[in-house]
Amino acid sequence: MGAEGGFAVDRPVLGLESSCDETAAAVLAPDGRILAEAVLSQEREHAAFGGVVPEIAARAHLDALPGLAERVLHRAGLGFADLGAVAATSGPGLIGGLIVGACFGKGVAIARGLPFVAVNHLEAHALTARLPGLLPDGPPAFPYLLLLVSGGHCQCVAVEGLGRYRRLGSTLDDAVGEAFDKAAKLMGLPWPGGPHLERLAAQGDARAVALPRPLLGRPGCDFSFSGLKTAVARAVAAGGAAHADIAAGFQAAVAAVLADRARNALGLLPEASAIVVAGGVAANQAVRAALARVAGMAGVPMLAPPLRLCTDNAVMVAWAGIERLRAGLTDPLDHAPRPRWPLAEMAGA
Ligand code: KG4
Ligand code: ZN
Repeated sequence: MGAEGGFAVDRPVLGLESSCDETAAAVLAPDGRILAEAVLSQEREHAAFGGVVPEIAARAHLDALPGLAERVLHRAGLGFADLGAVAATSGPGLIGGLIVGACFGKGVAIARGLPFVAVNHLEAHALTARLPGLLPDGPPAFPYLLLLVSGGHCQCVAVEGLGRYRRLGSTLDDAVGEAFDKAAKLMGLPWPGGPHLERLAAQGDARAVALPRPLLGRPGCDFSFSGLKTAVARAVAAGGAAHADIAAGFQAAVAAVLADRARNALGLLPEASAIVVAGGVAANQAVRAALARVAGMAGVPMLAPPLRLCTDNAVMVAWAGIERLRAGLTDPLDHAPRPRWPLAEMAGA
């Protein structure tokens, strides 16, 4: 990791994302403007298995990424020769996909003699809210509270500066998106089940079925969803309740738990300028409303990047690359992708 005190970013930056089941490429202008971007979901490849199959994911990334990167550049009216740097997600995630993205990125960097940034996927989610022009009142000031709620991640993070992150709490078992997916599967809904469950919940009564709210009222900001999932399994198996009511009860329990944990996290980070939510579960209106109430009570805004930037994408990877380049942080070409890469282990500016 090199830190030479800042690097003038004066040409477009290519971002690549391949850590899970989205293949994505984006090209950003040096000031962070999105010149072109694309996300290819592998949902169809994995749906039959009810979850992401790592080997299928890696092969699909390998098939799709080079062509996608070329198309995105073409759409921006650019070629590889116009780039100033390449940023590729290099962890955490599924190792096969990470190798595909990082190797392709390094290949472009070698061929064009460009700096390479090995981007931490979680840092990319954490910094998305700082993309210029994204939020009407400008980017939130450090520190802010990040609530990362996706299929693979569920954590409260104090974002204190570039490369300076403190995990305040995380899940003890399932990620919240995973809990949505498992609960949805129990009700016979297609994978990924989160959006289907939300639609079903809209027709149900959240008070009809009593479901637990794990860790609610306890100190700290950890999460736990396995007990709630088991309760859903029991309610479904018992057969007495409408699935819509179970879905509504589940969603209300999750929203209440997330709000409770976010409230505690704000207590641990009283200087927070905002709550920023990221990850696919940020699409859920009940979750958003519950978090907005917590933020409102604390007198800070709740900021949610537009959904396509909340879920996995390459814009956030290119942007994290630009932030790191500006701070003089680049990575050597022998940087090894890391399936596990906690934010607390980031090198900072
Ligand atoms: O961030 P994401 O696209 O990918 C990763 O997991 O990294 O998040 C996908 C997750 C899935 O578990 C999906 O079911 C969940 O986000 N999700 C939702 C909703 N939309 C997506 N969960 C609840 N309500 C939604 N509307
Ligand atoms: Zn993600």
